[in-house]
Amino acid sequence: MVRSTDIVLVTGGSGFLGSHIVDAIIAEGRFQVVAYHLLSKNPDILVQLRDEHDRVFVPETSTTANRLKEDPSLLNKCKPTQAIIKETLRLYAPAATMRIGNAECSLKTQRGVTVPADNFAILMQNHSIHRNTRLWPRADEFLPERWLVGPEHELKFPKVGAWRPVELGPRNCIGQALSMNEIKVVLVMTVRNFDIKPAYEDFDMIQAKGKGWPGQLLGTLGFGRKKPGIEYGLV
Ligand code: HEM
Repeated sequence: MVRSTDIVLVTGGSGFLGSHIVDAIIAEGRFQVVAYHLLSKNPDILVQLRDEHDRVFVPETSTTANRLKEDPSLLNKCKPTQAIIKETLRLYAPAATMRIGNAECSLKTQRGVTVPADNFAILMQNHSIHRNTRLWPRADEFLPERWLVGPEHELKFPKVGAWRPVELGPRNCIGQALSMNEIKVVLVMTVRNFDIKPAYEDFDMIQAKGKGWPGQLLGTLGFGRKKPGIEYGLV
């Protein structure tokens, strides 16, 4: 059950530009950054992920690309990888949806109040739905195992309709299977070869270097800062 606060009515909505290929590429890029960040903050989950990839694709990582080319269905054996992707998309959904209401459509709140939707745009608040504690036990925690357990487990398998980063129904994302496979391939090809850790402080220091104290102060406050950096290093 979605709360009324999970839905926002925006007056004067005049149209909605749906997801397109450029958005999708940006969404996947953003997803990768967030996934690497969550893995760097949860080293035990990173170990499980690497173990799984060693099991499915042998530990010698230089053979992974050829193995994938020979047998792409190996991706389907990566269940924990899929769970990590779903959990990352739950915590940090890169997209959402909006619909224009009409006179035939109305919304009912939990108290039974009918809200007309005509002349409103209806925006799904994926972030609040995905962190609603009535839908998700320990909602703010990164727990990929919730996607691998049954309803009897304290984490419970997620309810239908509660997970909507690629939305639901007849106009849901037609690229979702493609993007799931692409994201899996990128994770399989990278997580065993690289240790990725946040390097914001190092980056700030590099930015501030040679600027004297005014530059350093402004740099610390975020002025003149370019994109945050991620440090890549071979394991
Ligand atoms: C992580 C990656 C992606 C996310 C989070 C995402 C998310 C979404 C969402 C939320 C919608 C529904 C928009 C709505 O309800 O109006 C959507 C629709 C759509 N997506 Fe994606 N998407 C992703 C990747 C892709 C890819 C890779 C493609 C194509 C190659 C794609 C093509 C589309 C198209 C064509 C629609 C419109 C479907 C329709 O209106 O019938 N998406 N996507």
